[in-house]
Amino acid sequence: MKRLGIMTTGGDCSGLNTAIHRIVRGATLRGWHVFGILDGTDGLCANPPAAIRLNDMTLPIENARLAGSFLHNGHAGAMNFETAAEAGRVKQFNKRLQDGLKQLKLDALILIGGNGSLSLAWSNRETYRDLQLICIPKTIDMDMPLTERTIGFDTAVQQLTSFCDQLMLTARSHHRWFVVQAMGRDCGQLALHAGVAIGASAILIPEIKFDINNLISHIKNAQTDYGIIVVSEGISLRGHSGRPADMISRKLTAAGITNRTAFPEHTQRAGDTTAADRILATRFADCALDAIANNETYVMTALIDGDVHTVALSDFIASGDIVRDPKIPDLMTSNAYVSPDNPLLSVAHDMGIYIGEKK
Ligand code: F6P
Repeated sequence: MKRLGIMTTGGDCSGLNTAIHRIVRGATLRGWHVFGILDGTDGLCANPPAAIRLNDMTLPIENARLAGSFLHNGHAGAMNFETAAEAGRVKQFNKRLQDGLKQLKLDALILIGGNGSLSLAWSNRETYRDLQLICIPKTIDMDMPLTERTIGFDTAVQQLTSFCDQLMLTARSHHRWFVVQAMGRDCGQLALHAGVAIGASAILIPEIKFDINNLISHIKNAQTDYGIIVVSEGISLRGHSGRPADMISRKLTAAGITNRTAFPEHTQRAGDTTAADRILATRFADCALDAIANNETYVMTALIDGDVHTVALSDFIASGDIVRDPKIPDLMTSNAYVSPDNPLLSVAHDMGIYIGEKK
């Protein structure tokens, strides 16, 4: 009988609880014992490690659709790989993690995380050498290479879409524009998808250069005197600082365009998990359990051409644009961006949405 641990790390998103629920259910059917590690690596470092035994009753099915992580993602300011690296204490930190894993006597660990968590798990892979490590990709940013979807993205698009839908009504009543700032770090996927879904007037993403004067002309020549401009949090405007939506808003105001800004912020990480995210979480959970049964390790579940497979963590790291942080030698962040041939870009362009100076 296997002893399996589950850990959620990094920022939360919708779909984590569905993944936890399905892993528990599938593992229980296989006769395995499941332990939920609380607060990510914080819980694993505690002595004794903070973990609870999970069964179908600890996370009832009706709660599995809720956002957030039932196991929590960690305390702000607690020791983690980044702070340990900054303090030059990676060895001690890894030792505490290994001790925690030993005390729990785990045969396998399913780590549900984003780019940062997975790349750190790979950089510090010695920590997990005595068990099978299986990763499940999650993030609202959809910036992870090798997988066509990450858990949480679809719900985030829905949340941002609903937020903009509400604003559109008040925008119309007052003949004005809203500049809505989307999350996503330096990746424009969330802004692009929600922008197309709402029929935005313009979508600005970090991957595509834009010309502020062309944006202004586009809005001035629009068929309506109201609408939404979706701005990704990762864009910048030369010579300006502050929040991107504020920068764009000031420029529009200076050009005589009546507008307001709106910031959906962390509501993009909330909201009942959409059916698509629940199905993806269930498929990833099933794939992760199969990987354990097949004695795989250092792998990540991925959606490729519509099918769910495992891919080697080393391939995941190798296929992104690796960003190294000089302050944290062990941290590599692997990013996948909106590529110039993303079909949504041409669709947006053909629908009269200003998406920047797309060639
Ligand atoms: O990576 C997920 C994300 O929600 C980003 O889109 C956003 O920039 C960031 O996390 C916000 O982080 P925090 O929760 O620390 O404010």
